[in-house]
Amino acid sequence: MKNIKFARRMQDAEPSIIREMLKLSLDPNYISFAGGDPDPAFFPIAEILSFNKKIDDDCNILFQYSISEGNELLRKQIIKYIKEWGIIADLDNIIITSGGQQGLDLTGKPFIEEGDLIAVEGPTYMGAINAFKQYMPKFDTIEMDDEGIRVEKIKKRIEKGYRYKFIYVIPDFQNPTGKTMSYNRRKELLELARENDIIIIEDNPYYSLRFEGDSIPPLKAMDDSGNVVIIGSFSKVICPANRVGWICADRRIIEKYVIAKQAADIHTNELAQLQTAHYLENYSLKEHLDTIRTAYKEKKDAMISSIRKYFPSYIKYTNPQGGLFVWLTLPEDWTGEDIMNECIKEKVTIIPGSRFFADESKRNNIRLSYATMDIDSIEEGIKRIAKAFKEFERGKS
Ligand SMILES: Cc1ncc(COP(=O)(O)O)c(C=O)c1O
Repeated sequence: MKNIKFARRMQDAEPSIIREMLKLSLDPNYISFAGGDPDPAFFPIAEILSFNKKIDDDCNILFQYSISEGNELLRKQIIKYIKEWGIIADLDNIIITSGGQQGLDLTGKPFIEEGDLIAVEGPTYMGAINAFKQYMPKFDTIEMDDEGIRVEKIKKRIEKGYRYKFIYVIPDFQNPTGKTMSYNRRKELLELARENDIIIIEDNPYYSLRFEGDSIPPLKAMDDSGNVVIIGSFSKVICPANRVGWICADRRIIEKYVIAKQAADIHTNELAQLQTAHYLENYSLKEHLDTIRTAYKEKKDAMISSIRKYFPSYIKYTNPQGGLFVWLTLPEDWTGEDIMNECIKEKVTIIPGSRFFADESKRNNIRLSYATMDIDSIEEGIKRIAKAFKEFERGKS
């Protein structure tokens, strides 16, 4: 075939640079700060697989088609889990998805019509931009400060006549910045959503990964208007390969997600759902979380102290209280792409920040993940990046 006529929505879809970086990261000589992967050393594999011992000849029904809402045992466990976050839900407020990523994709089906305006944080999770793009909305990138998305900017735009279909935020230990939205900012955002009847899509896969500071309730727990849809996931807290995520929202919204899910994949892998439910029911997720939070805190501290030791003072950095990411701001006339190329020469992988802006408006940032490297490699990797900065400056002068 000479000319394959792809749909318009595919025209600017590029393969993810993270996947390209991950290919390099497979080389043991590279230090990888590029992926968003959790540390596999902590996956509770034996505990998850212990469910399989329960499978016997009478279990054929487990291998049958199941309901799109998701396994009831798992939904009950999720209701218990998020009650600790302050979210009160019933079975019909929950749908199981194939990872949080599918939650984002399914969000496009009930909510986005071509040309609809969506407010997103600048920067935001590139996987969300890519998922929403398939439904051809327009993105409005809203600046962030240290307290999260600048709600007053959204307010001004609404006054100017902007009409948002939804506002997409990652309030806790945001990917890519590691920032957390303050309590007051959450209140302002909820107030704005309520007054203007706008849906908030709260993507919160890192909520349980707080390793310092006081926790702040998720937007969904603070909301009494029904405007918030929260998307969660077990990828970062148990393991990503099982692809188990969930959405919690008003029953009328969940009904639409169920229709979208039926069209997408009918239901999430039943065995993976049952393994997750079994794990939550029979083992202590709390103890597991304590272990991984301690490990991530050590890694984060190692990264921040190496940054302080080796980077010039004009490189700005975030200091997250949880999650997996540190965000660097470089001088205005540097680009993350230039530094990425220098870093590849030094055998360290990073992600240039422009990829996380829906409008690619800023180019002088870098995202680093400390999650999968050990403490010595973190220090060595930061040294290598410091060398990449020097080489870049030498090349410029
Ligand atoms: C903010 C955010 N949302 C959603 C996802 C998707 O995660 P998963 O599909 O593995 O649950 C990620 C993964 O990195 C993420 O960082």
